[in-house]
Amino acid sequence: MENFVFQNGTKILFGKDEEHQTGIETAAYGKNVLLHFGGGSIKKSGLYDTVVASLKEQDANIVELGGVKPNPSIDLVREGVSLCREHNIDIILAVGGGSVIDSAKAIGIGAYHDGDAWDFFTGDAQVTDCLPIGVVLTIPAAGSETSGGSVITNEEGEYKRAVGHGTMRPAFAILNPVLTYTLPAYQTACGITDMSSHIFERYFTNEKNVDLTDRLCEATLKTIIQQAPLVLEDPENYAARAEIMWAGTIAHNDSLGVGRSEDWASHDIEHEVSGIYDIAHGAGLAIIFPAWMKYVYKHDVNRFAQFANRVWDVEIDLNDLEKTALEGIRKTEEFFSSIGMPVRLSEIDIDEKHFEEMAKKATDRGPLGGFVKLQDEDVKEIYQLAK
Ligand code: NZQ
Ligand code: ZN
Repeated sequence: MENFVFQNGTKILFGKDEEHQTGIETAAYGKNVLLHFGGGSIKKSGLYDTVVASLKEQDANIVELGGVKPNPSIDLVREGVSLCREHNIDIILAVGGGSVIDSAKAIGIGAYHDGDAWDFFTGDAQVTDCLPIGVVLTIPAAGSETSGGSVITNEEGEYKRAVGHGTMRPAFAILNPVLTYTLPAYQTACGITDMSSHIFERYFTNEKNVDLTDRLCEATLKTIIQQAPLVLEDPENYAARAEIMWAGTIAHNDSLGVGRSEDWASHDIEHEVSGIYDIAHGAGLAIIFPAWMKYVYKHDVNRFAQFANRVWDVEIDLNDLEKTALEGIRKTEEFFSSIGMPVRLSEIDIDEKHFEEMAKKATDRGPLGGFVKLQDEDVKEIYQLAK
């Protein structure tokens, strides 16, 4: 196990009706609140009214910025930064999913920067501080509610880029599984795929003797695999929604990655796809991850056989570990298909046209991956396998 520092200070309030605590939690950081949300699901569900009432009970001054779209855009971030300056905002309250939270974080760091907020995503500026971020989560998926990362799209040039810093971790996150009942099945499945992928990115490591984190990864994955059909069958199954919601946070709060190198190539390879084609991140991962696995499994057949055996209950064939490994990859793909995800680019009408460009962009800051290092030619091969 490698040395590590683990610090995740996000306060979690989990369970039914916890969104009524929003006002009190927010007030701890000041009165001037930027209320940030997406395209309208929170107005339809009534969550918007609950949150506003809770803020008003604490005499908050509310400035609203709605309209965050999936694959959030730098343009709205810029608007948010101006609002923070104009209204002397104390805290940004993100009510929604990963896109809203990421947009809030980008605004939060932008407020401390004299130049353009996109500078952080190109590496031209370094994050030093972030306004406090509060979260009311409506979709278990990205794990942004406790992560220190933000992923933003710049339509000019079709770039989707990530930045991370400890100060960007939300101060608090409210997780009520009931708020996820209104999710369309497709979004639920995208979330399930994304959280599973956050575990894969940590599971496939070159570090030896990381048995506890291996087992924690496997337990979280097994829980997701078991609960996924239950939430899709009955969207109002509280017990199953709660398991999935907590799994989404555990998958990405960094505890599963301690003491081991991680990979993240599949995420970078996927970000180029959703950056150009504006597909859901989870759907992109359902296509890219199995392709990545097929491309790299020979690097450590034992680890892939362990994954097949412990996560997918594939019997280990000691005479043919490769067969065991490949069966685990097949089962991964089959699972994504079974929950309604595409597993080939052709299923969502994406052809080879941009493979070269996406491979070049994905690697323009150097080779990808910690498990296996990938150059642009490798990334192109992975897009070919995903075709
Ligand atoms: O915009 P509204 O109307 O709210 O609708 C959203 C959106 O259309 C809808 N939705 C959310 N909660 C709902 C709901 N609809 C009905 N009922 C509810 N309760 O779902 C759609 C997707 O929302 P979005 O926030 O985009 O989903 P997600 O949480 O999957 O976030 C995806 C983004 O997170 C980034 C991805 O790249 C992508 O841009 N990621 C962020 C990470 C991080 N910051 O740590 C890590 C991840 O790997 C990921 O890259
Ligand atoms: Zn992800």
